[in-house]
Amino acid sequence: MVKHKTCVFISGKGTNLKNLIHCSRDSSFPITISLVISNKKKAEGLNFAKIYKIPYMIIDTNFKNYEIKTLLFLKKYKISFICLAGFMKIISNNIIRSFEKKIINIHPSLLPKFKGLNTFNRVLSNKEKKTGCTVHYVTNKLDAGQIIVKKRFYLDSDENELTLKRKTQKLEYRAFPEAIIKTFRNT
Ligand code: GRF
Repeated sequence: MVKHKTCVFISGKGTNLKNLIHCSRDSSFPITISLVISNKKKAEGLNFAKIYKIPYMIIDTNFKNYEIKTLLFLKKYKISFICLAGFMKIISNNIIRSFEKKIINIHPSLLPKFKGLNTFNRVLSNKEKKTGCTVHYVTNKLDAGQIIVKKRFYLDSDENELTLKRKTQKLEYRAFPEAIIKTFRNT
């Protein structure tokens, strides 16, 4: 089986990255992680790239040429698929266009509810009964691309932001690999 060379974009802890690296070690999993990109020099998740000897690069999205640089790196590593795993910047239109239907993102809510940031806080203040996570294709509209996988759970009465994050991320570690498998099922 030929694995699709994938780049994972991160900004923070990278626990989803770590999970995807583990999944990709399975010979039947459709992707291999060939590159990690972070917009934060100090992103903890970069340690996983170092530990697993995956090439990584840091981009400064404030620089105008970041997009060209990113596209060149994606080309250099023959990347054909992109996973956004906690990447806290909007991906530029040119990159989205070059990877149409080949970029997916994981979001910590049941989209289309609670697009954008501060999700857990908004879920609590809105007194939601259930929440979860969504994996979707990335388009030029924020958190609005076609949904691939959604996973949900019911909130307990004493839920806070920390417990919500813990429960949501536990579901993310199942949802992201499932979405990747689904994406490549018919290719
Ligand atoms: C995840 O909860 C994801 O839904 C959101 O950012 C978080 C990243 O977590 N987009 P991690 O860096 O993978 O631990």
